[in-house]
Amino acid sequence: MAEADASGRMTAAVWLTLLLAVVSAVDRSNFKTCDQSSFCKRQRNLKPGSSPYRALLESLQFSQDSMKIQLINEANKVPLLLEFYGLKGNMTRLRINELTPLKARYEVPDVLVQDPPTTRLSVTGRDENSVELSLGDGIRKVILTAKPFRMDLLVGWELVLSVNSRGLLVFEHLRQRKDSFSDKVSSTVVSIWDSIKNLFSRTPTKEPDPDGAEAAEASNAPLPLEEEPTEKTEQLEDTSKREGEAEEDPGTWEETFKTHTDRKPNGPTSVGLDFSFPGVENVYGIPEHADNLRLRTTEGGDPYRLYNLDVFQYELYNPMALYGSVPVLLAHSAQRTLGIFWLNAAETWVDITSNTAGKTLFGKMLDYIQGGGETPQTDVRWMSESGIIDVFLLLGPSPADVFKQYTSLTGTQALPPLFALAYHQSRWNYNDEEDVNAVDNGFDEHDIPYDIIWLDIEHTDGKRYFTWDPNKFPHPREMLQHLTAKRRKMVSIVDPHIKVDTGYRVHNEIRSRDFYVKTKDGNDYEGWCWPGSAGYPDFTNPQMRAWWSSMFAYDQYEGSTENLYTWNDMNEPSIFNGPEVTMHKDAVHQGDWEHRDVHNLYGFYVQMATAQGQEQRSGGVERPFVLTRSFFAGSQRYGAVWTGDNSAEWDHLKISIPMCLSLGLVGISFCGADVGGFFKNPEPELLVRWYQVGAYQPFFRAHAHVDTTRREPWLFGEENKALIRDAIRERYALLPFWYTLLYQSYRTGQPVMRPLWVEYPQDPTVYGIDDQYLLGDALLVHPVTAQGARGVQVYLPGKGAVWYDVHTHQKLHAPQTLYLTVTMSSIPVYQRGGSIVARKERVRRSSDCMQNDPYTLYVALGPQGTAQGDLFVDDGHTYNFETKGQYLHRLFRFSGNVLTASTADPKGSFETLAWIERVVILGAGKPAAVFLKQDGAAETRLDFTHEAETSVLTVRKPAVNVGADWSISLR
Ligand code: GLC
Repeated sequence: MAEADASGRMTAAVWLTLLLAVVSAVDRSNFKTCDQSSFCKRQRNLKPGSSPYRALLESLQFSQDSMKIQLINEANKVPLLLEFYGLKGNMTRLRINELTPLKARYEVPDVLVQDPPTTRLSVTGRDENSVELSLGDGIRKVILTAKPFRMDLLVGWELVLSVNSRGLLVFEHLRQRKDSFSDKVSSTVVSIWDSIKNLFSRTPTKEPDPDGAEAAEASNAPLPLEEEPTEKTEQLEDTSKREGEAEEDPGTWEETFKTHTDRKPNGPTSVGLDFSFPGVENVYGIPEHADNLRLRTTEGGDPYRLYNLDVFQYELYNPMALYGSVPVLLAHSAQRTLGIFWLNAAETWVDITSNTAGKTLFGKMLDYIQGGGETPQTDVRWMSESGIIDVFLLLGPSPADVFKQYTSLTGTQALPPLFALAYHQSRWNYNDEEDVNAVDNGFDEHDIPYDIIWLDIEHTDGKRYFTWDPNKFPHPREMLQHLTAKRRKMVSIVDPHIKVDTGYRVHNEIRSRDFYVKTKDGNDYEGWCWPGSAGYPDFTNPQMRAWWSSMFAYDQYEGSTENLYTWNDMNEPSIFNGPEVTMHKDAVHQGDWEHRDVHNLYGFYVQMATAQGQEQRSGGVERPFVLTRSFFAGSQRYGAVWTGDNSAEWDHLKISIPMCLSLGLVGISFCGADVGGFFKNPEPELLVRWYQVGAYQPFFRAHAHVDTTRREPWLFGEENKALIRDAIRERYALLPFWYTLLYQSYRTGQPVMRPLWVEYPQDPTVYGIDDQYLLGDALLVHPVTAQGARGVQVYLPGKGAVWYDVHTHQKLHAPQTLYLTVTMSSIPVYQRGGSIVARKERVRRSSDCMQNDPYTLYVALGPQGTAQGDLFVDDGHTYNFETKGQYLHRLFRFSGNVLTASTADPKGSFETLAWIERVVILGAGKPAAVFLKQDGAAETRLDFTHEAETSVLTVRKPAVNVGADWSISLR
């Protein structure tokens, strides 16, 4: 749909949209491959071998909780400082920086929630080439080998993780650019690459002295750790003889991609390191990629890339970068789960290699039988363009431990307001107030619940965020009040690009406060985005963020009310005319940091400032809801993410599952994909299936491109409407369960959507499964994602376990793979025997309308006839659960034919009218009678029905308040 600006001309943004709409797939040439990214290419050219780095044992320094030691690159003599910490909770931290950098290198702020508490480190052994350290309890040991430098982590006597065992530590030290006019400066030019190359090709820059070690010792004597070297030039001059070859790598000081030249004032600054996991064949994480859950080896292709980018019509099943990055990788075997958190916000590439890659299962079996096979091993190599090496090793050993460890560092998922878990209706765009009204009424007319209607960029006055189009949305307050009356909400989009327009207050204020990101020459950086020419507020600046937050106050964001929430998009940042559709790397942020250093943090900060703004507008009482497209480690603290601009294609529907699973593994549980697909028009079958899938993903929003035909659920005929309505209603009935899962995630860091291996870590069958998953530990979902599907193969895990089909209540034994025939109404979901799930089965217009509605408990008996589950209840929108203890965390247990309700957490209390109207026990025999007992009251008899065929016992109307303690006995 083309639009004209006030003067009747087509705006550039509209032209761009039109242009983009006719192209049908990603233009890969817009994005770099590793070969086109100079540091990635340089690093990849370095092949595994003996590391040129040596740890100077004589520089070792110990404190209670840390070890410091210098590392020296034998080739260029530049000293590094390695710091190693034991952290509480079974983690360690390894930091490597230059000992004496020419200037500070970027260290990522604001991502860690605290300085991680440390634990005791002690030296338990030492010889001339190594030191052995014990961590905490002494079961975990680290052996640091000096030459060549490596570190090995042992649990008991088992080697679980090695660092730099393949010799791929790279640290491009800061240097001044060779300047032919100044001999003095030229002497500082060093090419680490040539030196390393030399070392590997065994043609050292210096003649090795016959007595190698001793001579090297003399020239590499450690510098005092706290002191500046006094003879820096001398050190550098040491290598000046290599200056002629110093700039051999053409991308070292400057690189050009398409029409953009990146001049690097700091020269090459990349860092890299390798990690090996003996015994591990399965690695996961490092989102965001449109790929399978289990990571593949990258030999022969590109590494996985982490560089937040707006990739138009992204392709599936490849390692290209997408909108967000979380540099966290999980390694899993039947023995243990480990994690690596690489805290670096610069462009990063991750290579994965494995010694079993390509071997068939039969080949592996043969190795095993013949006893000749190597231990399987996966190697992971991280490469980042700048910053320092700051890496956390999460030592598990269980998946739950790793989640706990990681979220203790970066925070857990924020508990969203309850409505945010309900169904969201969006499109680009709802055209005007009448349109909003009509869609809102449509849901009532067609009896479909929904909670939030979304306004995309066209609602603004000419893409000026925090404003409303005066013609299309002249009465925003009234519109919002109308929604309030229906107990519904609205979300408006607020992007971080700010129209350069002296008539626009937001622009003027940012400019006058000097809050824009700068060009390398010190001018305000400008790029092209939806509004045309735009400035980019420097969200890395805390003052800028505070100002941005203040913009969400009701008197600043005119027309806004309490039920208006926010969507942050294009925050990679997306810049249509920038290199790779983003910001130039040499743009400058507060503190003189280059965009290169902070790139992957930009979106994180935008969402942070927005969420804080929403919090502040209510005096800190209300919980925010902010959706972001771009993210980084820790973004879970600020709201939800979605998987960006997908397509109305079956494969895109399918990939939404592993994409959200991967995010959940690294802390970001509140994830979803555009229901229906953003680009293109879904056929009705795809749309229906997408609703069924979305209903079982944490963030459930339909959204569509401006050029697509309208797709409100009632536009596809009665039959499809009914199917969509059923899917949405299933979601609403399960809201108590979803809310409890999010609460658990907030409390414990466990993912909401879980790959099967998280709950069944010892079952190798599940390591590669990503077409089905668990919600918490209770529901197993295997959505239908194939066109014309007649059935799905469902794997039910757990030795001796039982599962119940939630629709038919049929009991099934595990482990087994079953073929389930499906119809268009099927959403295959199973409840684990042994779990209890709460539902609200009187579905209404919106979640808020259901607040005091009664619950039904589904008690699915396990093989031993027991079950357990919990339920979280609070007001659904404030922080009072945190600040005032106003909540209920209920625990339900079934054992010995008695179901009891008690508190899971006596610290909370909350008054609610909600009560329990029904208890459905799956797998139960028929009792003679059922009794309810409440504290201080006499036993009462309850009505029940029993279906012999399915063994379902339904106990009617216990009519107890959800906050009360009670028991129900079957006799
Ligand atoms: C981006 C978003 C999309 C949105 C559009 C217009 O493409 O990813 O969801 O509709 O911008 O704001």
